Amino acid sequence: MYEQIENQVKSAKKVVFVTGAGISQESGIPTFRGKDGLWRNYDAMKLATIDAFYDNPKLVWEWYNERRQNIFNSEPNLGHKAIAELENFVKVFVLTQNIDGLHQKAGSSNVLELHGSIVKIKCTVCDFKDELLTEFSNLPPLCKCGNILRPDVVWFGEGLPQDVWQEAIIQASSCDVMIIAGTSLVVSPANTLPIYAKQNNAVLIEINPDETIMSSDMDLSIRSTSAVALPELISIFKKQ
Ligand code: OAD
Repeated sequence: MYEQIENQVKSAKKVVFVTGAGISQESGIPTFRGKDGLWRNYDAMKLATIDAFYDNPKLVWEWYNERRQNIFNSEPNLGHKAIAELENFVKVFVLTQNIDGLHQKAGSSNVLELHGSIVKIKCTVCDFKDELLTEFSNLPPLCKCGNILRPDVVWFGEGLPQDVWQEAIIQASSCDVMIIAGTSLVVSPANTLPIYAKQNNAVLIEINPDETIMSSDMDLSIRSTSAVALPELISIFKKQ
């Protein structure tokens, strides 16, 4: 299956991963779209926009608290671990839409969190930011300045942290191989990253059990889950 890309992959100097919810699915964290996706049972516009948050901060915080508990109890799977291990063989950057911190927990050192982090909180008014692993007893939690604290994640309609996004573009534009794992590639601007890589003539490899809207742009689509496909793919680098 890998013959057509094996030589290019072996000679790669920099490999960039673009990951999404699917890579954490085998760690017990639900995806957003698809059969068991969160957006099937929950309304994104009532939970993941700043207007929804100001309308009902308690409801949004209850939902995040539930997700925080699930994520804090989750462990990286073989997919996250394979990506971390690849650092022993080649330069690796991970550009993730996930907020769960599992790439870092698996040991990846260069992780850019495009949509923020569920561990982090910030004030809606002042510049207070912190990391917090415990649960809040009173919702919504308040900042010392008296205003409401919010999860430090990117909601629909909000811009990505610009320093992170600029760095992501730099890494995507300078990689030799881009491996896109567990994302439907429907959310912008993260879904433009493969285009930056293609402009650098990088090999594009997708890992997803289902077809995506960019499958026809890929050099190789591996129709398997990431915990199965990534360790196999990474073994090509070990053979050099
Ligand atoms: P999605 O839920 O849109 O897509 C998950 C993708 O993972 C789908 O294409 C699945 O086919 C695939 N998948 C499922 N299980 C898999 C597995 N075990 N291994 C590999 N792939 C698997 O998630 P994202 O693309 O990450 O943003 O969604 C992008 C953004 O939309 C999220 O960051 C979030 C969401 O709304 C915000 O909340 C702002």
